[in-house]
Amino acid sequence: MPAVESSSTLDRVLVLEMVRVTEAAAIAASKWVGRGDNDAADDAAVEAMRTELNKLPMDGTVVIGEGERDEAPMLYIGEKVGSAQGSGPKIDIALDPLEGTTLTATAGPNALAVLAIAESGCLLNAPDTYMQKIAIGPGYDEGTIDLNRSPADNVRALAQAKGVEPSEIIACVLDRPRHQQIIDELRGLGCGITLIPDGDVAGVIATADPDTGIDIYMGSGGAPEGVLAAAALRCVGGQIQGKLLFRNDDEVARARRWGIDDLDRVYSIQDLAKGDCIFAATGVTDGSLLKGVHRRKGCFTTESIVMRASSGTVRRVATEHYKLGSLRSL
Ligand code: FBP
Repeated sequence: MPAVESSSTLDRVLVLEMVRVTEAAAIAASKWVGRGDNDAADDAAVEAMRTELNKLPMDGTVVIGEGERDEAPMLYIGEKVGSAQGSGPKIDIALDPLEGTTLTATAGPNALAVLAIAESGCLLNAPDTYMQKIAIGPGYDEGTIDLNRSPADNVRALAQAKGVEPSEIIACVLDRPRHQQIIDELRGLGCGITLIPDGDVAGVIATADPDTGIDIYMGSGGAPEGVLAAAALRCVGGQIQGKLLFRNDDEVARARRWGIDDLDRVYSIQDLAKGDCIFAATGVTDGSLLKGVHRRKGCFTTESIVMRASSGTVRRVATEHYKLGSLRSL
């Protein structure tokens, strides 16, 4: 894994602070698990995340958020957050207060509250379009995967690098009709496919967790989620590539507004998230990555993961929240 220089802007104290932020969002969203109301769940997470971010002594800017200013009342792209505007460290923030709104509404697996931070200018300001993605976990040479190759060729290359047959490779793919061609190609090789209903940030990170058995992630999902997943993989030495996909002229215009001229560019992991970065996520519902928020008598329990690229550390934080647990409702 290439060495990443530690950023003096990202004070190490922020590592734990980020967990406080994702914990608050996850707890707020957890009230809506299985309640069938995507918007209420998302609103609760957004408000809680914003409140916590504004307590932090930083000059933060949301670069990936809930949408553009006219679409999102809170945590919109460009919104300033933090209590030290103009004086604190300048930090860019990519966030998804509730990654998996439908998963939350339907009590499905792997809904997360997620964010990544980096020094100003280090996270791709990705427009809210789709992104074609391919990702693998750590331990492989650079170039093992290539988005310009076919899914079958990527699986063959990965199998060779892993020293197994292509049929032993397990891929994670979002369960969408648009992925039928990928699924057919992989089935043709005899691969195992884990189809997930939603939540490709967790799907990508699963490639770095041997317990999941997942070797490779393929398919298209949100571009903002691609940047968040890239920040996570940077911390553990995984690989991801992404290419923006545009469905209409409006999305192309949106990308151009973000300064994207080469619409066919394949973004490397460094293009998506460069320099030192911190990634944090707290589980809202139980999943392969994290346990969700649970309510015990008198307290909530949360499980979070927080990683930093420069230190190459992955911390799992289990927290009991007694003060919140005594409240009847959030
Ligand atoms: P939301 O939390 O915004 O609903 O995103 C869930 C998600 O599954 C992402 O993880 C993924 O990148 C995207 O939606 C896929 O989009 P679509 O559901 O349109 O295929």
